[in-house]
Amino acid sequence: MSVSASNLSWQDGVAVITGAASGIGEALARHAACELGMKVVLADIAEQPLQKLAAALGKQGCEVLAVPTDVANAASMTALAETTRSHFGDVTLLVNNAGIEVLGFSWEIPAAQWDKILSVNIHGVVNGVKAFAGAMVDTGKRCVIANMSSIAGISIAPIQASYVMSKHAVLAFTECLYLEMAMKSAAVQVSAVLPGPVKTNIFATLKQYDDPIVAGHHQAMVELLESNGITPQAAARTIFEQLASGQFWVSTHPEMTAMMAKQRAANLSSLAKPSIDMDSAVNLD
Ligand SMILES: NC(=O)c1ccc[n+]([C@@H]2O[C@H](COP(=O)([O-])OP(=O)(O)OC[C@H]3O[C@@H](n4cnc5c(N)ncnc54)[C@H](O)[C@@H]3O)[C@@H](O)[C@H]2O)c1
Repeated sequence: MSVSASNLSWQDGVAVITGAASGIGEALARHAACELGMKVVLADIAEQPLQKLAAALGKQGCEVLAVPTDVANAASMTALAETTRSHFGDVTLLVNNAGIEVLGFSWEIPAAQWDKILSVNIHGVVNGVKAFAGAMVDTGKRCVIANMSSIAGISIAPIQASYVMSKHAVLAFTECLYLEMAMKSAAVQVSAVLPGPVKTNIFATLKQYDDPIVAGHHQAMVELLESNGITPQAAARTIFEQLASGQFWVSTHPEMTAMMAKQRAANLSSLAKPSIDMDSAVNLD
């Protein structure tokens, strides 16, 4: 059984967005607070931009609360859930959006960086669900949990193995969560968000890489988002529309998502060796 949020009104609802201080998270937060009239909890590890955004949105008359949060830390996410409940009450929408990139040949990426990307991208989403889902189920009200995977969640790419595996994990987790909510007949809609290229600083803020292959890939990804990425505002609008219509698969680039899914399905169904069309390799994020 799927739960559709098609009749769900965002107006006056409560949204919690992680990774809200930048990029897609910021655009989702702005859209929710200022276009849809939601009360929005802005959660991010970067305190300064977080407080700056909260002040700017507050000045525009939008109702927001900034809560510095580390999604990789379970206690920090539990505290976020408690603060949300005490300030705004029941949650209508949780977007587990915070995520980072790491580039490199898998065996050369330092252990601390492996830990960090898996902690933020995978455990961050699990921590979000653990902190919020129980109360969302218990209220019996229609509400939404949206987990940020990526088109990288249905494809493969060298130099981005840690990111790609984290997004595959988020997608598999979200599919299982969907089934668990159905088993409980819960009124919680579960959606997987698979953005294509969106013009954010996710690559631009990475360090410079010494290895020429990694540096070239990095440069290609920065240029790809800059030249082909849609704006975070456009992504936020599309994501909200698709969430409101009750979709499980939420995509900013539906045709690209369909093509990637088809390629992946063809590879798996023929048990072909891993291969990649290098033109589409740099289309991954
Ligand atoms: N930009 C794209 O093209 C694209 C495509 C597919 C998926 N995504 C996914 O969308 C999400 C947002 O990415 P973006 O492009 O807006 O990136 P971004 O770098 O602009 O924003 C990410 C935000 O997450 C925050 N963050 C990082 N670690 C955190 C932590 N431990 N706790 C709390 N917040 C933390 C950062 O401070 C930042 O504000 C990510 O999950 C990313 O993987 C992005």
